[in-house]
Amino acid sequence: MKVVAIILAAGKGERFGTDKISLPLGGKPIWQWSFEAFLRHPLVDSVGLVGPATISHPKAFFACAGGASRQESARSGLAHCEPDDIVLFQDGARPFVSADEITRVVEAAKRSGAAGTAITMRDTIRKSGSHDLVDRDELMAMQTPQGGQASLFLKAHEASTGSSTDDLDLLHQVGIAFELVEGSASNFKITTKEDYERAKMVVGAMETRTGIGFDIHRFSTDSARKLWLGGIEFPEELALEGHSDADVVLHAITDSILGAAAMGDIGQHFPNTDPRWKNCDSSVFLQHAVSIVGAAGFELVNIDVTMIGEKPRVMPFAGQIRARIGELTGISIERIGFKATTNEGLGSIGRAEGISAFAVATLRFRG
Ligand code: CTP
Ligand code: MG
Repeated sequence: MKVVAIILAAGKGERFGTDKISLPLGGKPIWQWSFEAFLRHPLVDSVGLVGPATISHPKAFFACAGGASRQESARSGLAHCEPDDIVLFQDGARPFVSADEITRVVEAAKRSGAAGTAITMRDTIRKSGSHDLVDRDELMAMQTPQGGQASLFLKAHEASTGSSTDDLDLLHQVGIAFELVEGSASNFKITTKEDYERAKMVVGAMETRTGIGFDIHRFSTDSARKLWLGGIEFPEELALEGHSDADVVLHAITDSILGAAAMGDIGQHFPNTDPRWKNCDSSVFLQHAVSIVGAAGFELVNIDVTMIGEKPRVMPFAGQIRARIGELTGISIERIGFKATTNEGLGSIGRAEGISAFAVATLRFRG
């Protein structure tokens, strides 16, 4: 006895408008999400694919063509199973099936012969074309996986003359009982373009990237220079040396943002040999970094920075610095951490020869 999952991916996507099943979602085709979810599940022995010839995977137990209806496609996949297998039918258009849902269906199928996931209705339901409400407590929305003893499904498919979009319905038609287990709203099916947009948002929220930035500048002997830290001017304090305004805090943040998107570093984008950046306000660098990572599909989630220096005392200005970084990056002040520490007199920073800063930034992929 094996547990065999069958990914159904042979639909035409009529309600979607085009062939949806191989559209990209977070760097892989939609169908591959559920394929991989079953592949890595400890209770699943093998995973087969029913779909067009363009769909294949080196780890697929089988890959075969589907039929004109979902039912026919399920039957094509079933032909690769042994009667004593537990078969699990999964819509390839449901990328977010969870391990728990798979576990629940396998356990219930072993217990009861067959099982599938369903969710209760949350909205009030009205019959289309009438003003009558339907009691939502009498309704369940069916999801996948659905499955059970392959012998039961072989028998039900054999007997069926119609076409059902529900695997358990075939069993029901021949009087075979099944168990319903809890599904989840997250395991939604990509049926329309709006569902696809939602799926991309879910993937974006799952994928975050973190970048680190570091910078160090020595104090300047040039009395004409001004000290800038975190986008704030400290006119009374000793300035830092540098090609630009030498704002170590903004430089570290800029590098952390570029780093999170693997888009190089500040020196690459603003070479210190380029006269355009001479004495430049570093807010230009930071804004540019936010803008180019934004164009690449990333949204800034948060920034945290630690400045290390014996002087000046900057913590009284932390609120102002965070507000300025917020203005430059477009994120709210609660998403911006700013801290400062001395170097306890140790090393070059400890001898007050300069100031350094570390920053981390998190980006979310928005696609
Ligand atoms: N499916 C299949 N073979 C078919 C029809 C559907 O394998 N002949 C699969 C789909 O690829 C999908 C699942 O079964 O993964 C059912 O989801 P659905 O949203 O109905 O997909 P489509 O049938 O492609 O879409 P539509 O009904 O809008 O045409
Ligand atoms: Mg369909």
